[in-house]
Amino acid sequence: MGLYNKFILPKAIHWACSQKPSMLQRGKIIPLAMGNVLEIGIGSGLNLPYYTQKVKHLTAIDPSEELWKKSNINMLSLPFKFEFIKAFAENIPLADNSFDTVVMTYTMCTIPDLNKAFSEIRRVLKPTRKLLFCEHGKAPEKGIQKYQNIVNPLWKRIGGGCNLNRNIPTLIESNGFTIKKLETMYLPGWKPASYNYWGIAEVK
Ligand SMILES: C[S@@+](CC[C@H](N)C(=O)[O-])C[C@H]1O[C@@H](n2cnc3c(N)ncnc32)[C@H](O)[C@@H]1O
Repeated sequence: MGLYNKFILPKAIHWACSQKPSMLQRGKIIPLAMGNVLEIGIGSGLNLPYYTQKVKHLTAIDPSEELWKKSNINMLSLPFKFEFIKAFAENIPLADNSFDTVVMTYTMCTIPDLNKAFSEIRRVLKPTRKLLFCEHGKAPEKGIQKYQNIVNPLWKRIGGGCNLNRNIPTLIESNGFTIKKLETMYLPGWKPASYNYWGIAEVK
């Protein structure tokens, strides 16, 4: 791992993800989590304050310990049991049918093999239980899409593998889920990175 990935990137991701518009988005989706919850790609733990007492146990995975170390939450203050595991979504080291809710925020843009990750999420979710998501992705306008596609290779290189142009609803639905609720809008900021999709999906 280079110096950029070890020292600069975690700070940059934590800063970008903690901006007010994306923090407001977290408040729209995280309080819906309940029971035994798995968060994929927890990053610096920015969703933690938004979980409610409906959560019994939260397990969080992320391959980046550097980013996780940026978390400034007092784990003892959380009203549920919590566990962090260093792991990739493509190979979740947890049992089948063990979660009531899986949560992903601003992570589908980065996971290299989303097909494999969704297959793992379907495996660990209990039947008919929910995937809650809030992601940025492909914009609706052709002009912005074109710009997203041009900038993407450089963005991905400096952004820790983040893609600007993933079609989030199509990726979810083509990987064994039905989207039950979907909302979209541009957050304030740079348009190619700010078109948000958030909602609830269930295993088909
Ligand atoms: C833009 S950050 C978002 C962090 C956090 N979810 C949030 O909302 O603030 C993307 C996260 O995806 C994680 N990630 C990258 N590849 C991953 C993989 N294969 N499996 C799981 N998480 C991954 C990164 O380490 C990082 O924490």
